Amino acid sequence: MTDVRDDGQRKRVFIRTYGCQMNVYDSDRMADVLRPLGYVLADAPEQADLVLLNTCHIREHASEKVYSELGRLRDAKNERRAKGRDLTIAVAGCVAQAEGEEIVRRQPAVDVVVGPQAYHRLPELLAAAERKSALRRAGKRLPGAGVLDTDFPAESKFDHLPAPSGVRAGSAFLSIQEGCDKFCTFCVVPYTRGAEYSRPLAAVRAEAHTLVAAGAVEITLLGQNVNAYHGEADDGSICSLAGLIRELAEIDGLIRIRYTTSHPRDMDAALIEAHRDIPQLMPYLHLPVQSGSDRILEAMNRRHRRDHFLRLVDRLRGVRPDLALSSDFIVGFPGEGDVDFDDTMRLVEQVGFASAFSFKYSRRPGTPGAMLPGQVPESVKAARLSALQALLARQASAFNASKVGTVAPVLFAEAGRRPGQIVGKTPWLQSVYLEGPAELIGRIADVRLTEAHANSLAGEIAGRHYEAAA
Ligand code: 5AD
Ligand code: SF4
Repeated sequence: MTDVRDDGQRKRVFIRTYGCQMNVYDSDRMADVLRPLGYVLADAPEQADLVLLNTCHIREHASEKVYSELGRLRDAKNERRAKGRDLTIAVAGCVAQAEGEEIVRRQPAVDVVVGPQAYHRLPELLAAAERKSALRRAGKRLPGAGVLDTDFPAESKFDHLPAPSGVRAGSAFLSIQEGCDKFCTFCVVPYTRGAEYSRPLAAVRAEAHTLVAAGAVEITLLGQNVNAYHGEADDGSICSLAGLIRELAEIDGLIRIRYTTSHPRDMDAALIEAHRDIPQLMPYLHLPVQSGSDRILEAMNRRHRRDHFLRLVDRLRGVRPDLALSSDFIVGFPGEGDVDFDDTMRLVEQVGFASAFSFKYSRRPGTPGAMLPGQVPESVKAARLSALQALLARQASAFNASKVGTVAPVLFAEAGRRPGQIVGKTPWLQSVYLEGPAELIGRIADVRLTEAHANSLAGEIAGRHYEAAA
């Protein structure tokens, strides 16, 4: 493969990312893999030679979006070809993993399908696709359409990826754990991302140092089950997430550490204590509970009860009273009756969440939930979701309002929509908008929080001095 196009310009890749933060991280890593091949990032598909869709399979709506996007890309490819140029189309992520064969069957314009464990092989796959299309251009009739790699290879992709470069405005993601062995009955992740795998401590530490050297003051540790982390330590023993966080807290210049997504069963005592002892660990925890009904939790195979979650919340707040709690909820899981839904509403009232994500149950082929009796009608799901979201929105507003009048350190992430406006995050992951200099982007400054809205706060820089990024 050459690193320049026929017209002498560099090759451009446009990456569209759907779904979770793991995908955001993976998209950055795919850009890292493509960079040595001469690819630079394009801002829009129209400017790109390669369009890469990094897809999400978690709910039906998310996967269907991929096929409509592919239809549009096929049209763009045909138009390009009519002008004597080409457009390469690649599909990555969880839809690629789950429906690879179907993608190439439904959309022959797709050149490459690559599953989440095979991103380090992208260069070979693109080269193979290029060879295939060159043969086709030469008039050869070839079976099948795109080049497909959805293996779960024995070696870890992390051992083959180049050094990361994904630091944005002082903040970076770092994937420490992938896959899931929990098999919640609604969830495709154990099938699309495979078995749980934790990266060794040394690899994570090295990547964290690289990110901090590249300007990161905040690192968010990622994993589908991040608090199930059990990486190999330098002496061959097993290191937990709490141990890892303690290690990373030693890195000079790393001011904020976050982690997501956690499972209630894996919130061990050491991790709870880390929230008390480690100042760099931000007072925010995303801890999905999914439902407040023991009956539904059992049917979901969550392997914990409502009480366990409530006790965890008490213990966490016991060590870190200002902890902002966030969660995920699913309404309308098969068999969910009014009483079960009321249990969920009562749990929410009891806990008081700072933020949350909530979804209607989406039936995913191949998961045990899809076969369960008692599927809930769409209208019931919609009514429950809006009641739950109204309650969660009231709680989020109340949490934001509780911070008005205080001063908080804000890490500025980007320019706001209005000229002169910048946007950042508090330790509790609230968005703060204010008038301020663009030089603050990527840095932390103390901000007086002046006004609360449903999803954000307004503020003003408190004093002239601010802490510069290390
Ligand atoms: N339907 C609806 N929501 C789902 N989630 C996962 N699978 C499904 C599904 N089949 C939600 C869960 C999970 C979040 C990432 O997505 O709440 O925590
Ligand atoms: Fe899916 Fe459950 Fe695993 Fe989370 S813990 S990724 S919801 S199977």
